[in-house]
Amino acid sequence: MDALPSFYDDLDGFRAEGWRRLAEGVTNRYSPFHTPSLATVDAAGRPRLRTVVLRAADAGAGALRFHCDRRSDKAREIAENGLAALHVYDGRAKLQLRVEGRARLHQDDAVADAAWGAALTMSRICYGVEPGPGTALTAGDAYTMPDEDPEARIGRENFCAVVLSAERMDLLYLDRRGHRRAVFRRGTETWTGTWVAP
Ligand SMILES: Cc1cc2nc3c(=O)[nH]c(=O)nc-3n(C[C@H](O)[C@H](O)[C@H](O)COP(=O)(O)O)c2cc1C
Repeated sequence: MDALPSFYDDLDGFRAEGWRRLAEGVTNRYSPFHTPSLATVDAAGRPRLRTVVLRAADAGAGALRFHCDRRSDKAREIAENGLAALHVYDGRAKLQLRVEGRARLHQDDAVADAAWGAALTMSRICYGVEPGPGTALTAGDAYTMPDEDPEARIGRENFCAVVLSAERMDLLYLDRRGHRRAVFRRGTETWTGTWVAP
């Protein structure tokens, strides 16, 4: 039988493992943590879900960053109520992570400029799609993408960096010898956590 992971009965270690996996997901595109599901809430209170690419994970600040088009539903929903959550299940690690908190759109500030500056051209081009995401089309191909942009500015006006400030993290580790689940809440700067029944 496999050895138990070091975080199995270590609450702080369990939280650290969640952030370690998130950080790894930023750089490892094969990790399930690279492409979490993002939940938002629409104006009618309905849940909305989609995949995003995780771009940054700052354990110290309790912050996660992803990018989106400001014309998208998710951008509108975040602008309206700021509610957001991310979910990942990593089957190999047998680990489910859920993070809930407040999300903020960055369009014309240093956070957005830095994120845009670090984005690859192939990613930037997506923000130049016309018409904007979610617009009904007369045919599947009735939209345009910009050519590769020598100035690399096309799409910048539609680009948003989104920072999710974590308020709650829920981790579930599956093991036949007994699952482990913990919930962590973030105050101004520190986390408090407790084991909970799985
Ligand atoms: C693997 C994968 C990665 C994606 N990454 C992003 C992303 O980082 N940002 C984004 O806005 N949409 C991303 N999408 C597209 C969204 O899942 C979604 O279809 C689109 O953004 C429209 O969402 P909305 O109408 O809810 O705003 C990705 C989709 C897939 C399948």
